[in-house]
Amino acid sequence: MIPALLRLPSFRRQRREDVQAALEVLRFAGLEDLAAADAQSLPLGTRRLLEVARALAGAPGVVLLDEPAAGLDEAGIEGLQTLISRARDAGATIVLVEHNVPFVMSVADSVWVMNLGKPLVNGTPEEIRNNAAVLDVYLGRGAQPLDTVAKVAKGVAAEQLLAPAEVAPSTVGAGPLLVADRVSVGYGDLTVVREVSVELNAGRTTALFGRNGAGKTTLLGGLSGLLPAGTGTIHLDGRDITSLKPWTRAAKGIALVQEGKRIFRGLTVHENLVLALPRGLTRAAAAERIDQVCDRFPVLAVRRNHRAGSLSGGQQQMLALGSALAAGPRVLLIDEPSSGLAPVVVQELLTAVSRFKQEGVAVLLVEQLVEEVLNGHAEQVVVLDGGKLVHSADATSTSVDEIAASYVG
Ligand SMILES: Nc1ncnc2c1ncn2[C@@H]1O[C@H](COP(=O)(O)OP(=O)(O)OP(=O)(O)O)[C@@H](O)[C@H]1O
Ligand SMILES: [Mg+2]
Repeated sequence: MIPALLRLPSFRRQRREDVQAALEVLRFAGLEDLAAADAQSLPLGTRRLLEVARALAGAPGVVLLDEPAAGLDEAGIEGLQTLISRARDAGATIVLVEHNVPFVMSVADSVWVMNLGKPLVNGTPEEIRNNAAVLDVYLGRGAQPLDTVAKVAKGVAAEQLLAPAEVAPSTVGAGPLLVADRVSVGYGDLTVVREVSVELNAGRTTALFGRNGAGKTTLLGGLSGLLPAGTGTIHLDGRDITSLKPWTRAAKGIALVQEGKRIFRGLTVHENLVLALPRGLTRAAAAERIDQVCDRFPVLAVRRNHRAGSLSGGQQQMLALGSALAAGPRVLLIDEPSSGLAPVVVQELLTAVSRFKQEGVAVLLVEQLVEEVLNGHAEQVVVLDGGKLVHSADATSTSVDEIAASYVG
């Protein structure tokens, strides 16, 4: 402090050395020409290089990097790759937490894959790429067979829960209900979803797959209006809704069931459903709508007067779906409904999702359980990777292996 205040020679020497060291780090990162630039004005990729360079300043033995590639385009990732490899070659130990698998494979010497808070496997990138356990985790394999489901749904015939939903006949063959055309979505100046086009049809389910961090939740945010679309257009029934706020889109029939069973735990099942009803229904129409929901989701009928917080995880997710149905949606966007649930209730839940088709709803379903969803719960499949659409096809012409291939890149 004192040498700094008095600007003593020892302070000035120290300062010169610090500036010199900073310039050296910038040179190391290929950023020396930008030493005088305002960091805030730099493009995202360059700013990320600067962040990593700053972590490297002072020559640490170990550098911890948390998702450095998030939101970067190919050029940005390439720059990062070069910098990380260079730091490794210069002797730094780098621990990299990252969603972008091709990026990890290109820079890592050793890879740990974690699942549910525990290390799953460790190996070279090549070993990981060919590891069956890793693929199973990515594809959400491991759900129980169908016959175990019946045991959990007390009071309701298993056949009733598990009967495949029919596709609403009146809507088959109609044009797409929701059309997203080259939509880009992100957070502030970070673009995550890039120029993605999808079409959702009434009475059909479109499965949206992609590994962690691919941009699935972000895309749902863009379609529901929670996140503004940076570029591109969204049409509902031929009308441009791109600039509409989320609540206006909801009023027009776009329902979003977010991850994590968002219900009112202190209220009863019935009260939750009442709250989800659209405004302006007569008393009779409201009662009829709730009866319809209970018909579609028999578990809710059984628990109608129970507090929502006392329901099992699976039943709470059913209530989240039932509440969405009570709102009378035309488009249902649903994010990982099976997340955190015992495998034994997953089939029941996917069947419940399929019931929306009977109402003529266009469903976009994000799920990690690729095999289960492809097994009769979706008509269309789209896959995101790195925020881009990498696959779009009929469910019948899409194999689990194809999805798997896009996951491990
Ligand atoms: N609020 C946020 N601010 C900044 N970046 C974000 C935010 N939310 C997500 N991201 C980034 O956007 C990218 C895509 O995230 P998103 O949640 O859409 O992925 P996802 O495909 O839904 O993944 P998961 O399977 O883990 O749910 C990730 O790199 C993530 O770090
Ligand atoms: Mg998500």
